[in-house]
Amino acid sequence: MKLGIVSDHGGFELKEFIKNSLKEKFEIIDCGVDSEASVDYPNIINPACKKLISEEFPRMIALCGTGIGASISANRMKGIRAALCHDEFTAEMSKRHNNANVLVLGGRLLGKDLTLRIVDKWLNTEFEAGRHEKRIQLLDSL
Ligand code: RB5
Repeated sequence: MKLGIVSDHGGFELKEFIKNSLKEKFEIIDCGVDSEASVDYPNIINPACKKLISEEFPRMIALCGTGIGASISANRMKGIRAALCHDEFTAEMSKRHNNANVLVLGGRLLGKDLTLRIVDKWLNTEFEAGRHEKRIQLLDSL
């Protein structure tokens, strides 16, 4: 299963940790960055989202320092449902109700243990569909 991952410099360290933790289970497509050198997050996040939209991979984890810039950038793009999650509950609900195709994390906020629990919950929760299907379709049609 392919999984995209991307971060700016603020999320780089946690991105590398997640990548190393998941590399046995997933084919990780790393969309950058490659170091902690300062970048402007839309320049990194948006091209990665385009790869998801063009189906190079079905889902992606995106990080910046707080997760806010990455979240705003990603959600500007049609077809992206990026959820900034801080705990397992928001990660679970972002899949069950919102079918989030991008999990956004704050690299400067989360410890490694919590990060892995959030990622695991997001990767292993299914979309409930039903009444939520119509709501998701509205996102891209209004
Ligand atoms: C970079 O310093 C920081 O602003 C960025 O990683 C992110 O947190 C922006 O929302």
